[in-house]
Amino acid sequence: MGSGTSSAMFLCFLHFFWIIVNPARAYSMKHCISIKMNLNCRQRNLQTIPSDIPPVIKSLDVSMNNISKIKKSDFKNISVINCMNLSSNTISNVEDGAFLHLVALHGLDLGHNKLTTISEHMFQGLANMTRLQLHNNLISFIACSSFQNLSGLQIVNLTNNKLHHLSNVQPLVHLPNLRELYISNNNLHYFESRELSNGSIGLKVLDVSTNPLERFSITANVLPNLQNLNLSYCGQNGSMEWDVADTVFLSKISTLDLSGVQMSVDNMSMVLQNFTNTHSSLASLALSNLWRKSTEKVGIIANIACHIPTLSVLRLGNDCISVVSEKLLQSCSRTKKLDLSDNIISDLSESSFRSLKGLKYIRLDNNSLSSVPNATRNLSTLKILDLSLNSIDNLNCLDFANLTGLLKLFLYSNKIQKLDSCVFQDLKSLKMLSLGGNSILTLNGAFTNCLQNLESLDLRQNKLSSIKQEDFKQLKSLKSLILFDNQISHMDNGAFDGLFNLETLKLSSNKINAKAVKDTVFRELSHLRYLSISSNRIEYEHDSELRLPPFVNLSSLRYLAIFSQNPQGMFNIPSNFLEGLQSLETIRAGNLNIKLLHPNTFRYTPELKYLDISDNKFTSLTAELFHPIPKLMVIYLSKCQLESLDFLINANLFQVNYLQISYNQLTALNETLLNSLPSLTYMDMRNNSFSCNCSNLWFMRWITNNSQTQVVDAHQYLCKYPFSQKGTLLLDFDTHSCSVDTGLFYFISTTSLVLLTLLGSLIYRLLRWQLIYSYHLFLAYLYDNKQKNRRAAYQYDAFVSYNTHDEPWVLRDLLPELEVRQGWRLCLHHRDFQPGKPIMENITDAIYGSHKTICVISRHYLESEWCSREIQVASFRLFDEQKDVLILVFLEEIPDQQLSPYHRMRRLLKKRTYLSWPRAGEHTGVFWQKLQLALETRNSSDEENPLLTGVERL
Ligand SMILES: *[C@@H]1O[C@H](CO)[C@@H](O)[C@H](O)[C@H]1NC(C)=O
Ligand SMILES: *[C@@H]1O[C@H](CO)[C@@H](O)[C@H](O)[C@H]1NC(C)=O
Ligand SMILES: *[C@@H]1O[C@H](CO)[C@@H](O)[C@H](O)[C@H]1NC(C)=O
Ligand SMILES: *[C@@H]1O[C@H](CO)[C@@H](O)[C@H](O)[C@H]1NC(C)=O
Ligand SMILES: *[C@@H]1O[C@H](CO)[C@@H](O)[C@H](O)[C@H]1NC(C)=O
Repeated sequence: MGSGTSSAMFLCFLHFFWIIVNPARAYSMKHCISIKMNLNCRQRNLQTIPSDIPPVIKSLDVSMNNISKIKKSDFKNISVINCMNLSSNTISNVEDGAFLHLVALHGLDLGHNKLTTISEHMFQGLANMTRLQLHNNLISFIACSSFQNLSGLQIVNLTNNKLHHLSNVQPLVHLPNLRELYISNNNLHYFESRELSNGSIGLKVLDVSTNPLERFSITANVLPNLQNLNLSYCGQNGSMEWDVADTVFLSKISTLDLSGVQMSVDNMSMVLQNFTNTHSSLASLALSNLWRKSTEKVGIIANIACHIPTLSVLRLGNDCISVVSEKLLQSCSRTKKLDLSDNIISDLSESSFRSLKGLKYIRLDNNSLSSVPNATRNLSTLKILDLSLNSIDNLNCLDFANLTGLLKLFLYSNKIQKLDSCVFQDLKSLKMLSLGGNSILTLNGAFTNCLQNLESLDLRQNKLSSIKQEDFKQLKSLKSLILFDNQISHMDNGAFDGLFNLETLKLSSNKINAKAVKDTVFRELSHLRYLSISSNRIEYEHDSELRLPPFVNLSSLRYLAIFSQNPQGMFNIPSNFLEGLQSLETIRAGNLNIKLLHPNTFRYTPELKYLDISDNKFTSLTAELFHPIPKLMVIYLSKCQLESLDFLINANLFQVNYLQISYNQLTALNETLLNSLPSLTYMDMRNNSFSCNCSNLWFMRWITNNSQTQVVDAHQYLCKYPFSQKGTLLLDFDTHSCSVDTGLFYFISTTSLVLLTLLGSLIYRLLRWQLIYSYHLFLAYLYDNKQKNRRAAYQYDAFVSYNTHDEPWVLRDLLPELEVRQGWRLCLHHRDFQPGKPIMENITDAIYGSHKTICVISRHYLESEWCSREIQVASFRLFDEQKDVLILVFLEEIPDQQLSPYHRMRRLLKKRTYLSWPRAGEHTGVFWQKLQLALETRNSSDEENPLLTGVERL
């Protein structure tokens, strides 16, 4: 019954670990993990109860922390909670009313703390509580009214405290529903029924064990319904006094543990004789560890015990027996279960159990037997025989003779080396055979002609090296075959043939290589649901298709484990390795040294829900890999050296709710990725290379603000980048530094304005000419564009662009020579521009209406006119029409460095031809000739330009 309670408690907290499949809605909390409304804050170095506990949860586990005080305000926001585990802290103080609002609480564990007293109002409000664990504290005082309103309380564990008097538990005993009370290992010297005053009607289980009781005295019927009494290891100095006034007082007791009680043989005999009367209900009696190694005394006691008419279970364990003779148990004819485990029995006479006519269950485990005793043969009523943990090295054909009714046989952890075909021949009903932990080398047909009803065969941890076709063939009922941790390297074709009902096959930790994993081995296992072949030597050189994929006939398989625990691994998974596994839901393929997965890998497993490929060497995976498995819910990808999860974006993983990606090199996750996992509720990203900067602002905010996905332990994540943030906490990153406030904005804009102005004037000073020039260039571009659309016929042969300073030369030298002597028609602005027309239009008309444009270049010209509209329009036309329109005439020598601001000029000079007006005193004839030639040239490209030759450079 005790174990029932603890298992209920265990189940209650088991919720916490139920994280593998389908974790539901979760919350983001600083210290806890929440799964399915169960909050786990275990081992977090907490000093206080976390303040961000959501109001509605099923359970809370804050065990293994450093909490020393429970404050009244700690749980005031929690309205609905069933279980609470506060154990293994240092709680010494619980404020009155701390649990006041927890009306739905059923289980509270305060074990392993430092409580010394239970005060009056400590448990106020816990009206619905049924289980209370207070074990391993320092409690010596319990206030009278402290349990007054806890009328629902059924189970209280006060084991390992400092109670000195039985009267301390009086406030508990009176509770109407109390069923189980554990006060083991306190400091009780007396058990006097009067200390319980009126006693307890409901109490069924009472554990008083390991107290230094000098006296066990019941003088009134205070525990009328007590069924289970544990007095083991009570008493001091061999002298516990037993004083039960009336056998009726203990008449309901069915289970009694008197192991290790300090009592003389005589006193013990008297105690047991008190149970031989007609009122007694005693069915199960433990008498272990009474008088070490004194088989004689044990024999006397056993004999009396076996005269108890109702007794069916007898335990005589813990080092007290070495030899069992017929005499020891001669009166135990009614015993159904005999527990002789944990002794040092090496010898059992053939007739030891002869008088136990109805024996169903014998435990002889953990003794010193070197062979299967003769005594256990021919027990036709026997159902369970446990011989495990002995030194049996050999099984003979008659060892299990006539055990035709036996259902379970345990032989694990012995020294059996070989089997024979005859060994199990009589075990016609056997359903379960456990032979693990021996040294069996070969099966020698031990399973060939018997065990038709065997459902479970456990051969783990032996030394089998091969599986032959005949080995298991006749085990038609077999559902589970466990062969892990052997040395199997070879499996015959059809090694498992005939096992049509087999559902579970465990072959991990053997020496099976890729050649041994073949379709012919598994061909008849169409009902197999669970297969593990992890940690073997299955390796593939590449991932190309296998000619004969191994699992094609395993159409019912739900679970496949191929992960490895050795560093070797599979290296590659052939693209059709999983072919045939149409029902597969879980695959565990971690630590296989795999770098790549072929996109077809999961093509054959459309039902896959749970995928573990963690601890591999992927640097990247593809979205295509996941397309055939849309039902995927759980992904394990930790320790995979991943720098990005972008491959999940188009993977269509709409059902995934659990993502384990710890120990990678991820810097952050982006919005697109997380949006592509719409069902995600649980994500573990511990130990990645988080980058704490503003570009991951969205991610950091998402971790804390999103209401769907719980990022496990996010508050412990450390930054790795940038260097300045290394080692700081990701969620401590100051996100405000990323958003600019208005003050800062104004500051920045004024500063920039000032800087720009400064820079602008600086630029203007340095690059004035280039700026003006660029401005005109732009205007010219606009006009040129406009001009393109309306091509006038040529009015002039040339338009002359010049500076007013050079007008004398134009009028005196140029005009007479070109117009009068050579007969060209020139356009001069002072003479030919139409008055009233905008100047720009006049210029463009002139340029586009002339075949050529002559630029008269001097220093003045460069300073004022070069940047003028004329030259720009002309040069645009030049590029636009690809015609040689520009004729450059240099009136004076201009050194290169003075030309430097005029990039365009320099470019033109490099590409174009130009003429220089001869220096004073030189002959002008050649100049005019060349000019004439230039004016005559029409539409010629550079290469053909005759002026290219015979022109001097500046
Ligand atoms: C009571 O506490 C003891 C000591 O920790 C433990 O061993 C035992 O299992 C507990 N019993 C129940 C019913 O919880
Ligand atoms: C708790 O107990 C009260 C009566 O004491 C009952 O009305 C209520 O329904 C119980 N609540 C739960 C959650 O069991
Ligand atoms: C218990 O047994 C002893 C010895 O057999 C006997 O003297 C005593 O009266 C018995 N007690 C009761 C309550 O029957
Ligand atoms: C088992 O019984 C046989 C006779 O049936 C006997 O020869 C043998 O010595 C016995 N073995 C042991 C270990 O008692
Ligand atoms: C098995 O039982 C039969 C009939 O009861 C008996 O003849 C035979 O000797 C027994 N076998 C052994 C090995 O004791």
